Amino acid sequence: MDHRIIEKNIGLMLALVLGVISLGGLAEIVPLFWQDAVVKPVPGLRPLTALELEGRDIYIREGCVGCHSQMIRKLAPEVARYGPHSRAGESVWDHPFLWGSKRTGPDLARVGKRYSDEWHRVHLIDPRAVVPESNMPGFPWLAENELDGADTPAKMRALRSVGVPYEDEDIERATAAVEGKTELAALIAYLQQLGTHFDPDQEG
Ligand code: HEC
Repeated sequence: MDHRIIEKNIGLMLALVLGVISLGGLAEIVPLFWQDAVVKPVPGLRPLTALELEGRDIYIREGCVGCHSQMIRKLAPEVARYGPHSRAGESVWDHPFLWGSKRTGPDLARVGKRYSDEWHRVHLIDPRAVVPESNMPGFPWLAENELDGADTPAKMRALRSVGVPYEDEDIERATAAVEGKTELAALIAYLQQLGTHFDPDQEG
C-alpha cells in the first residue's frame, strides 16, 4: 500500500497506530504473567498478620504513599542507601501495591527493624522530636484511635479471593488480634515488617 494513502487519512492512520502500539504492549506485558520471578512470592514471604494489615490500611488512608516509595531501584546509590533492590516477588500479595513514585521522604521498602517501635512511636506523633530538620507531618491522632477489628476478617477474605494465602484460623482470630489496639500500634507493626521477608542469599 502506498503510505501516502495512510498519511492523508487520519482515521486510518489512528487505527493502524493503535494496532501497532497494542501489539507492542501485549508482546511486552503478556509474557510477564507467566514469569516466575514476577508472579511467584520470594522465599520467606508471608501474608501480613491481621494487625499489620490494619496498619497497611492506615498507611493508605493517611497518604504516606504520597511522600514515601516502597521500591528500591537497581541503581548503585539506592542500593547503598536502602539495601538490596526490590524484587517483584516481594509484592505479589500487595493489593494494591504501594510502590509509589514520590520521594519527599526516604524509601521505606526495607525500613522494617531499622528503628525501635519506640522510635517510630515518637517519630509518627511528632517527627521533629527525633529528626529536628524533618518536614514530615505528625500523626498524633493515631495514638488515640482504637481499632475494633470488626472489618478485619472481611478484608482478609477479600484478599484471599485474589490469592493471598490466609488460613481459616488466621481469619477467625483476626478480630481478637486487632481489637483494642491503637492505630499507631497497627501502623508500627506494618512498618516493622517491611522488607524483612526477603533474603538475597535465598534467591535461586
Ligand atoms: C509530606 C511528606 C510526608 C508524609 C505525608 C509522610 N512522611 Fe514520612 N518522612 C518524610 C520525610 C521528609 C522524612 C525524612 C525526615 C524524617 O525522618 O522525619 C520521613 C521519614 C519517615 C520515616 C523514617 C525513614 C528512614 O529511613 O529514616 C518513616 C518510617 C516514615 N517517614 C513513615 C511515614 C508514615 C508511616 C507516614 C504516614 C502516616 C509518613 N511517613 C508520611 C515525609 C513524609
